[in-house]
Amino acid sequence: MTITTCIFDAYGTLFDVTSAARIAAAEPGNEALAECWPRIAQDWRLRQVQYTWLRTIMQDHADFWHITQDALDWTLEAHGLAGSVLRERLLSLYRKLDAYPEVPQMLAALKSAGLNTAILSNGSPDMLEAAVGSAGIGNVLDDILSAEACRIFKPARAIYDLVPARFGAAPDEVLFVTSNGWDAAGAAAYGFVVAWVNRDGDPVERLPGRPVHVLADLTEIPALMGV
Ligand code: LAC
Repeated sequence: MTITTCIFDAYGTLFDVTSAARIAAAEPGNEALAECWPRIAQDWRLRQVQYTWLRTIMQDHADFWHITQDALDWTLEAHGLAGSVLRERLLSLYRKLDAYPEVPQMLAALKSAGLNTAILSNGSPDMLEAAVGSAGIGNVLDDILSAEACRIFKPARAIYDLVPARFGAAPDEVLFVTSNGWDAAGAAAYGFVVAWVNRDGDPVERLPGRPVHVLADLTEIPALMGV
């Protein structure tokens, strides 16, 4: 099947989720972050994604922005850094995370080749709008699809269903790009052609569904699509 539609995960794939803690650590007054910011970023991210799955299993939904704050509160307390000023600064940076440098050009190449492009994310609509706006990539995306429409989270199949429903593409006409091994597994098990952006050289997840492509970053995506 020919790929007509390129769909991107947001956090960790288009947007660098470590950039909030990294930027805050370089600011005056946040010296306590200087050494531990990579652990803060990692623990925050891990709790965030775990809470999405746990709340889905517990059938007690909260949106991704709420979960992002809960995960940060746990992380700051665990590191002895609970306090409102740092909390608010990290949350405000999270709403305008850096996009990876190759993102605008890569999306522009796909769009000018006539492919559909969109985000499919667990993020809530307001935070995705803010991140897309601050990265300046709204003009090279056809849509921003949020799991909030279903009130559960990836890797539930209902979330991947949003893509065929929006674009009328069969799953095997969709290239799904994600940096999250668990999302790569879920999307591949759903039937998408998956490109896993494995920036850290992690082992493939032992879950149903394997990525077809494993990439070091996003620069190879246009070539993969023959554009
Ligand atoms: C996303 C996160 C969870 O769905 O990576 O954007």
